[in-house]
Amino acid sequence: MSTATQSAYLVTALCFILALKGLSSPKTARNGNLIGAFGAAIAVVVTVGQRHLGHRPLIIGAIVVGAVVAVPAARMVKMTAIPQMVALFNGVGGGAAMLVALDEYVRLHRLDSTAASIAVAFTAIVGSVSFTGSLITFAKLQELMTGRPILVPGAQFVTSLVGLGAVGCGIAAVAASSVPLLVICTALSLALGVLFVLPVGGADVPVVISLLNAFTGLTVAASGYVLDNTLLIVAGTLVGASGTMLTQLMAHAMGRPITGVLFGAFSGSSTAGSTAELTSSADRGVRSAGADDIAILLAYARKVAIVPGYGLAVAQAQHTCRELVDLLESRGVQVFYAIHPVAGRMPGHMNVLLAEANVPYEQLKEMDDANPEFSSTDVAVVVGANDVVNPAARDSVGSPIYGMPILNVDEATNVVFMKRSMRPGFAGIDNELLYHPKTTLFFGDAKDSLSKLVAAVKAL
Ligand code: TAP
Repeated sequence: MSTATQSAYLVTALCFILALKGLSSPKTARNGNLIGAFGAAIAVVVTVGQRHLGHRPLIIGAIVVGAVVAVPAARMVKMTAIPQMVALFNGVGGGAAMLVALDEYVRLHRLDSTAASIAVAFTAIVGSVSFTGSLITFAKLQELMTGRPILVPGAQFVTSLVGLGAVGCGIAAVAASSVPLLVICTALSLALGVLFVLPVGGADVPVVISLLNAFTGLTVAASGYVLDNTLLIVAGTLVGASGTMLTQLMAHAMGRPITGVLFGAFSGSSTAGSTAELTSSADRGVRSAGADDIAILLAYARKVAIVPGYGLAVAQAQHTCRELVDLLESRGVQVFYAIHPVAGRMPGHMNVLLAEANVPYEQLKEMDDANPEFSSTDVAVVVGANDVVNPAARDSVGSPIYGMPILNVDEATNVVFMKRSMRPGFAGIDNELLYHPKTTLFFGDAKDSLSKLVAAVKAL
């Protein structure tokens, strides 16, 4: 590899590090993304431009096909569907790294060092798990299959057996330099990816996507070792490390250990809840009101908290929400947005959504800053959120979400819930706060309801 190529790869690695730094804050995320894309573009151009590169037309053809599929897909995807798109792209990445490493092994039959052979076996196992596991998470989130944990009798035993078989065949393949054993190892690992993710359900699925993303990073780093490509090692390690940290942060924000996320269904502690709880609550009474009553409550309040959640994103109601807040502020009401770290379906979901509506950052309060405010808040308006305000997470020891830190909206004097029905949130469990005497429900699509509220406040 020429010095010019090495230098370009160094610049790319720096871009990736700066991108991660930029992505750590909503203010700098857009620039961070651009810097990362710029670095990736340098890497692609320099790699494809290398003099001794074989199969250049095929590689350029593959890049064109990939771009033609991915650019419109990424542009057109709804924000609420980004987690499954990430799952798909991530799975393809893991699968690609696995295929490249296998090709290298089959082509050369044996590699010049045992370390490189071990890296191939590692890539085959982890890349395959990441590939099929990501496809299953995609199918779950896209509702192509049930999002609840799928538990078949003896699943734990079969999964352990397949896992041991994959690792055993990998070790044997390295020891005997055997391509057939490596192929069996890959096939078992593909099955392992499916078995690994099937029992994960409910709110745990996005956490597993992040974990599989970290797996893909490690696979890419290992394939970089096989191909003797420093940039792949650096980029893969960055993805592996940041993916691992993101997984830990998400699990922490949900108050769940990683083992609970992965194996919770086996011990009955999945976040997917139980249908029994829902049926028992179906007949209970709630208090609901229309736009005029709620407008009076809001317009004459001193302090109002807006608690956005997944429903705000579904309804694309961020602009109307801002309009209402502006209107209330113009009447002298003090308003703040309370942001839960896992509100919505991806990290920073609410921040991105509200930034799109140009909500000033100063109005956003993260959970730890928002919680002390609720006891002096007159009205907490929950716009399409549910699990992140469910007191069961704080108070009900047996609840599937017990331990998840929540926004304590029940400490406000009044709580208004905007939602379309009595259906539960992502975790699939009932929310006692909906039945509390201080709670009023305002049924309807969030955008529609907020528009009605804007009109009603204007009419006061
Ligand atoms: P959810 O608990 O999923 O509740 C969403 C609420 O929005 C539901 O009550 C739903 O009720 C309502 N809704 C849906 N569409 C609506 C619309 N068009 N208009 C009005 N309301 C609508 O959301 P949340 O409180 O944001 O919690 C997020 C969940 O995702 C948590 O369980 C969390 O653990 C999980 N999760 C998040 C992440 C990240 S990183 N964000 C990662 C992993 C898991 P109706 O159907 O009755 O309208």
